[in-house]
Amino acid sequence: MEIIEKITVMQETSEKWRRDGVLIVLVPTMGFLHEGHVELLRVGRQKGDRLIMSLFVNPAQFGPQEDYQTYPSDTEGDLEKARSVGVDAVFMPTAQEMYPDRSQTTVNVEEITQYLCGESRPGHFAGVTTVVAKLFNITKPHLAIFGEKDYQQLVVIKQMVRDLDMDIDVVGVPTVREQDGLAMSSRNNYLSAEERVSALSLKKGLDLASALVATGEKNAGKIKNSVRELILNHPFTEIDYITICDPEKLTDIERVDGPCLLALAVRVGKARLIDNIILREH
Ligand code: PAJ
Repeated sequence: MEIIEKITVMQETSEKWRRDGVLIVLVPTMGFLHEGHVELLRVGRQKGDRLIMSLFVNPAQFGPQEDYQTYPSDTEGDLEKARSVGVDAVFMPTAQEMYPDRSQTTVNVEEITQYLCGESRPGHFAGVTTVVAKLFNITKPHLAIFGEKDYQQLVVIKQMVRDLDMDIDVVGVPTVREQDGLAMSSRNNYLSAEERVSALSLKKGLDLASALVATGEKNAGKIKNSVRELILNHPFTEIDYITICDPEKLTDIERVDGPCLLALAVRVGKARLIDNIILREH
C-alpha cells in the first residue's frame, strides 16, 4: 500500500493507472475509521481495479465553534484497516498542502445546501464540496463512494458532479450500524455511557416514523411530532432538526405520498449526531 502525502505524487500515480486502463475508485474519509468507512472500502475494492482512500481532516468544513481541533484521529489504526481491506494508496496530505495561502476558489452548491444541516452549519457544505472537488482532481477517480449516513452530503456531491460535468460515478452505500442500531460515527467517541443510551433515540425515532407510515399515517407534521417526543424523552438530547423532505430536492413535504427522506440531527451531550431513513408507503 502506498502512502502519499504530496498532491503531485498522487496525480502522477493516478495518471499512470489511467494510462494502464484500470478503473480507479476513491473513498474520501477524515480518518478514525470504523466499520462504516471499512464497508465503503470493501465496496470500493469490489468495484474497481485500484482503490484510493483519502485521509484528511478538512478544516474548511468545520465551523469556528466546531470540533476541528479535537476531531479524533488514529492514523496507525486507519492505515492498518486500509491495508487489511486491500487499499492500493492512501492519500494523506497536510492542511498546508491542500490549502496553501494563495487558495481563493471555493465550490458551492447553492440551494440544497441551505436546508437540513446547512441551516445550523453555514459554510459546511461549501467546505465539503471544495475539498471533494480538489480530491477528485488529485486522485482522478472513475468512481467515488460515499455513505448514505451523511445523506445530504451524498445528494450535494451528486449535484456538484452533475452541475460541473465531472466524469465520475458517485455511489452511495447504506448506513452501517452498531448491533443496537446506533449509526456508526467517529463522533460516537464523544458519548459517555449514559449519553450512548440516549443516542439510541435517533434510530428509535426513525423506526417509530416507519411504523407510523406503515399503519397509514401520512401527515408529516404528526410523524415529526411523535419522533420529537420520543427523542426528547431521553436525557441529554437537544434536537437540531427533524425534517421530512423530498429525497433529492430536500424541500419540505407535508404528506408522505411516495418515498420521502426523514432526516434528523440531535445533540447528545457534546456530540452532534445525524441519522436518516427513506420512508415508503406500504
Ligand atoms: P467522514 O465523516 O470520515 O466519512 C467518510 C465517509 O464515510 C462518508 O462518505 C460518510 O458518509 C461515510 N460514513 C460515515 N459513517 C458511516 C456509516 N455509519 N455507514 C456508512 N457510511 C458511513 O464525510 C466525511 O468524512 C467528509 O465530509 C469527507 C467526504 C471526507 C470530505 O471531507
